[in-house]
Amino acid sequence: MSAFTVALDGPAASGKGTIARAVAERFGFAHLDTGLLYRAVGARHLAGEEPIAAARALVAEDLERDDLRSSDVAQAASIVAVIPEVRAALVDFQVAFARRAGGAVLDGRDIGTVICPEAEVKLFVTASDVVRAERRYLELIAKGEDVTRESVLEDVRARDARDAARDAAPMVAAADAVTLDTTEMSIEDAVQAALAEVRAARG
Ligand code: DC
Repeated sequence: MSAFTVALDGPAASGKGTIARAVAERFGFAHLDTGLLYRAVGARHLAGEEPIAAARALVAEDLERDDLRSSDVAQAASIVAVIPEVRAALVDFQVAFARRAGGAVLDGRDIGTVICPEAEVKLFVTASDVVRAERRYLELIAKGEDVTRESVLEDVRARDARDAARDAAPMVAAADAVTLDTTEMSIEDAVQAALAEVRAARG
C-alpha cells in the first residue's frame, strides 16, 4: 500500500491525541505523537543538557521516559520547540514517518504546514482554552500531579501563546485544513467526525 498521511494539528489538550489513536486503529495506520519528540528534548534540557545537542542526540528510549506527560516537561517542550535547530534536528524522522508505506497519522503543531504539506487529510483540532485546561486538569489530577485549575489554565495559555507566536513553524491551521472545534463536542463525536474525513479522502 502506498503512502497516505493524516495530519492532525492543534493546541494542547484539544483532543488530537485521542483522535489520532482512533484513526490509526481504525485504518491500521502507524501513529506518531510528535509532541513526544519535543517533550523528550525538553526533559533532557531540564536535566541540564543544551537543547540543540539534546535534539541531535535523541534516541528511541528517550520517548519511553515516564515523566514526559508532566506539566513541567510540557512547558520545557514548548520552550525548546522555539529553537529552529531543535526543530531541524527532528524533521527528517517525522517526514520519513509521514510517508511510510501503509499510512501514517501524525499529531502535532506543524504537520500539515511543514512536515507533510502534501498530507491527504489535514485536520486542525481545537477547543476553547477553558475547556482544554479542564480536560488537562482532570488528566493531571488522575495521575496524581499537584495542580490547580488556575495553574493549568495559565500553563495552557502560556504554551498556546508561545507555540503560535514563534517564527519557526508556528502553530497555525494549514490553508487547506478542515477545522474541528471540539469545545462542545464529546470526544466520541469528535472521533466520528475525524473518521468521516479520512473515509471521504480514501474514496
Ligand atoms: O502536543 P504536546 O502538548 O505533547 O506538545 C508539547 C510541546 O511541543 C508543544 O507545546 C509545542 C511543541 N510541539 C511543536 O512545537 N511541534 C509539534 N509538531 C509538536 C509539539
